[in-house]
Amino acid sequence: MDPAQPKSRQDRGTDMTYRPPTVADGIRLHAIARDSAVLDVNSGYAYVLWCHDFSGTSIVAEYQGRAVGFVTGYRKPSRPDVLMIWQVAVDADQRGRGIAARMLTDLFKRCRADGVTSMQTTISPDNLGSQRLFAAVAKTLGLGFHRESLFAAHDFPDAHLPEDLYILAADVHPE
Ligand SMILES: CC(C)(COP(=O)(O)OP(=O)(O)OC[C@H]1O[C@@H](n2cnc3c(N)ncnc32)[C@H](O)[C@@H]1OP(=O)(O)O)[C@@H](O)C(=O)NCCC(=O)NCCS
Repeated sequence: MDPAQPKSRQDRGTDMTYRPPTVADGIRLHAIARDSAVLDVNSGYAYVLWCHDFSGTSIVAEYQGRAVGFVTGYRKPSRPDVLMIWQVAVDADQRGRGIAARMLTDLFKRCRADGVTSMQTTISPDNLGSQRLFAAVAKTLGLGFHRESLFAAHDFPDAHLPEDLYILAADVHPE
């Protein structure tokens, strides 16, 4: 068994597929983000552009021909070895099946083949589900897990909680 696969995945045996997004996924990504009622919803154009320009560092989970989850990411221009995860979301009726963890591990493995060695993301302090998701992914990938402050609430133009930076890398110690 591949050690980088989530051990508690429950989507085995279904026809869930994981693939890079295409422009045709932009509309669904926007809808999934909007329906999450948690994520900052960017413009429809932003999702379409992301699917076009950052497909190589993003992933979609598709079930019965419909995108039900996505991860958008990019390689940091100043640190191309870092895969920065921008947004992760799974449709509410598909949660708890290991889909987000599988997307993140599959995406990391795909990017690792191109020289990525670590993953980073920002999470607000109230999003415990996301913190646990990334902790689980770090464990699955055999990476350390470290948190540090990044953006304060006053850095944002609108009402927004702080965003902490989470680093998944071999050379950081688990929290
Ligand atoms: C967060 C989110 C992407 C998780 O998707 P998911 O497919 O249900 O997650 P998974 O089933 O892959 O869970 C992976 C791990 O994270 C944990 N986890 C996921 N959501 C959790 C929650 N709400 N509370 C506690 N733990 C959670 C799971 O227990 C699992 O850990 P384990 O392997 O140790 O058992 C999904 O709930 C979502 O779309 N939320 C709204 C958008 C959001 O908050 N995105 C993240 C912002 S950075």
